[in-house]
Amino acid sequence: MSGMEKLLNKIIDGDCIEILNGIKEPFADLIFADPPFNIGFKYDNYEDNKEHDSYANWTYEWMNVCNNVLKPEGSFYIAIGDEHVTDVKNAADRIGLFMRNWIIWHYTFGQQMKNKFARSHTHILYFVKNKDDFLFKGDEVRIISDRQKVYKDKRANPDGKMPDDVWNEYPRLCGTFDERVNFPCQMPESLLARIIRVSSEKNSWVLDPFSGSGTTAAVAAKLKRHYTGIELSPKYAEESRQRIKEFGNASIEGEGTPPWTEQMEKELKWLYHENKVPTEQLRDDDYLLSLFTEKFNNRIGNKSNRLSQNQVWKRLRKIQKTGKLGSLRGERVQTNGVKAN
Ligand SMILES: C[S@@+](CC[C@H](N)C(=O)[O-])C[C@H]1O[C@@H](n2cnc3c(N)ncnc32)[C@H](O)[C@@H]1O
Repeated sequence: MSGMEKLLNKIIDGDCIEILNGIKEPFADLIFADPPFNIGFKYDNYEDNKEHDSYANWTYEWMNVCNNVLKPEGSFYIAIGDEHVTDVKNAADRIGLFMRNWIIWHYTFGQQMKNKFARSHTHILYFVKNKDDFLFKGDEVRIISDRQKVYKDKRANPDGKMPDDVWNEYPRLCGTFDERVNFPCQMPESLLARIIRVSSEKNSWVLDPFSGSGTTAAVAAKLKRHYTGIELSPKYAEESRQRIKEFGNASIEGEGTPPWTEQMEKELKWLYHENKVPTEQLRDDDYLLSLFTEKFNNRIGNKSNRLSQNQVWKRLRKIQKTGKLGSLRGERVQTNGVKAN
């Protein structure tokens, strides 16, 4: 027994270095780490003010133990502030990780400053263990492109574009946000969902060594991945266990996507045929797509969790590709045998 079984689908309280040092076999397909940034933040039982060199050494230490439990084709994402981003990059170089993207999470609600520009970003460095063998499911995270939406360019990929490495779509979670649990530096679920969707599959194993409020574990569970969260504070660990237990069938916070049902699929098809506007035209005409989306949301009667234009359009395309949408009079539809679910 290599010891990793006891970590499966658990939030463990303890020190991630000690716990992961006891595991002798790589098990994680994906690691997301959001360590304390060493900026004097008030945590339950962690002092967030180490000397610079001591923090840099500690960074190397926890990254190295994480790397030891990462599978050979695994991915490793690290969120970090300006003060120590170079320490993370240097540690990754020493360990032999290969960097794929230096992502900037640009958020709204940055902290206001009196005598310098307000900081409104966090770095997310994305590494893999093997530069030629890793999972990247780009189709899972495509977004509608300006080429489609603004320029109405017929040559645009109808499935949308790959997001850039500057992520603008996720606000920092303020105290007033519904999504906020009782934890001060919680990551948005929708941001984690992008990372988990693109770099893991159903039943993959996702590890977060600095679990905090349990965001990574909660999103992994919602997306049907296995998870392990490690958290120094027993209080935070217990609260995140409750968070995971209580989420039920909830959708990813911030995505506003209610669980997709057969009835919704029927409504979408009926609306499409009643509306008589081909998908290509909906794609190219923002106004028509917004009307269509409004009608659909009203029809399914979901007031709190309305689908966005992008979500409605993607769902239509998905059904259309299976050939199950049917064609409007005079419409020529290409399908590719993709299964809708
Ligand atoms: C920035 S927060 C993580 C927030 C998390 N991403 C979320 O969305 O809730 C960092 C967390 O690391 C925990 N921590 C600090 N040192 C640790 C260690 N050695 N092992 C495990 N957790 C640790 C802190 O208690 C804190 O909850």
